[in-house]
Amino acid sequence: MNSAMRIKGGHIIDPSDGIDYIGDILIDNGRIVSIERKNGNADTRKNPKNKHETIEAAGLYVIPGLVDMHTHLREPGFEHKETIRTGTMAAVRGGVTSVCPMPNTNPVNDNPTVTAFIIKKAMDEGFCSVFPIGAISKGQNGEELAEMGLMYDTGCRAFSDDGRPVMSSMLMRRVLEYSRVFNVPVIAHCEDLTLTDNGVMNCGVLSTTLGLKGIPAAAEEVMIARDIILCELTGGRLHIAHVSTEGSVRLIRQAKERGIAVTAETCPHYFSITEDACKGYNTNAKVNPPLRMQKDVNAIREGLRDGTIDVIATDHAPHHRDEKLQEFDKAPSGISGLETALGLGLGLVHDGVLTLNELVNKMSRNPARIMGLDKGTLRAGADADIAIVDINRKSTVNAASFASMGQNTPFDGWTLKGMPVITIVGGKIAYSVER
Ligand code: DOR
Repeated sequence: MNSAMRIKGGHIIDPSDGIDYIGDILIDNGRIVSIERKNGNADTRKNPKNKHETIEAAGLYVIPGLVDMHTHLREPGFEHKETIRTGTMAAVRGGVTSVCPMPNTNPVNDNPTVTAFIIKKAMDEGFCSVFPIGAISKGQNGEELAEMGLMYDTGCRAFSDDGRPVMSSMLMRRVLEYSRVFNVPVIAHCEDLTLTDNGVMNCGVLSTTLGLKGIPAAAEEVMIARDIILCELTGGRLHIAHVSTEGSVRLIRQAKERGIAVTAETCPHYFSITEDACKGYNTNAKVNPPLRMQKDVNAIREGLRDGTIDVIATDHAPHHRDEKLQEFDKAPSGISGLETALGLGLGLVHDGVLTLNELVNKMSRNPARIMGLDKGTLRAGADADIAIVDINRKSTVNAASFASMGQNTPFDGWTLKGMPVITIVGGKIAYSVER
């Protein structure tokens, strides 16, 4: 069946091709055919011959669909928290057209059977593209390397033990060495568990006041320093997940200045809110690494601005309501992030921290590049994965209406300025709001 489409008169932004102007995008058979710059004269020459759908995008931005390189879809094993179906539905509601689910499922994605299951399930039930991330160690136990080669052959394009650190420096060294064989990134969850010491929130005056055990910034920074040193030793590709502290930004900046092949991501909660969100023992603000202080938020924003931090990922970590209803120190860590990420990211644009071009780079092009995916671009021939965005339309976050099964967000009730109005995956409308 033909799926020709014209997205008409939108402001097209595609950092991969230096496009930043008003025009039309033509789509056929799920792929981008061409982009026509508006010059005042209607140009209909390239209209596909057969019937096509027209989407009026005047006054809207048209950008490559977002690529989230850090998602938890929870399937297999934790379907009471999220499924591939509901997680990818949440993705397209957020303008996200590709997600990379972390391997901390049950069973862990540490072998090609689980990888193949996720890929098949996503093809059958998913609303967007799914590129699974394989585990570094068997069972994420941090002891023995998982079958990276077999998982790579089945489709994994990155490896991580996310949710847990690789405590053994030798194992981290080995995986970085091995990553060179496949030219894939090793995504590091940087946390020294001996320093975390069962802490549950940021370590400081507030944790003492609340009577909760704190996690010092050093728990993250010590491991980032170690992994940068191992990256230099091995020549592997290191990507630092969920950067949350000022010191971490400094370490990554210095490493980049020295030419080490390190990339880094942060998440919207680390540039939007502080540990204050934990007041009242709000378990929806419990996340790992924990929310930090204003000085850290400022440093993360500066790291995004100056290019130290390459990527904004969601770390979408849905949990069941009953799990989050436990006492603060018992509740699981995580924030359901897919449906608020773009709105919070656009906050950086409205605040003058990033241009829209830079935001698209960090939420689409850079993650695609780091993961080695043919996504994050509007070039002719690319998959027609597109988000059409109204950067000024306000919406109030209502967790109860999330497509995600995880309603665990500290942003419930917030009014965000800017949202996706149409998400297109492979040339088909996967989501649209009433306009
Ligand atoms: O808060 C978090 N939740 N941090 C992680 O690293 C893992 C994640 C999860 O899987 O729930």
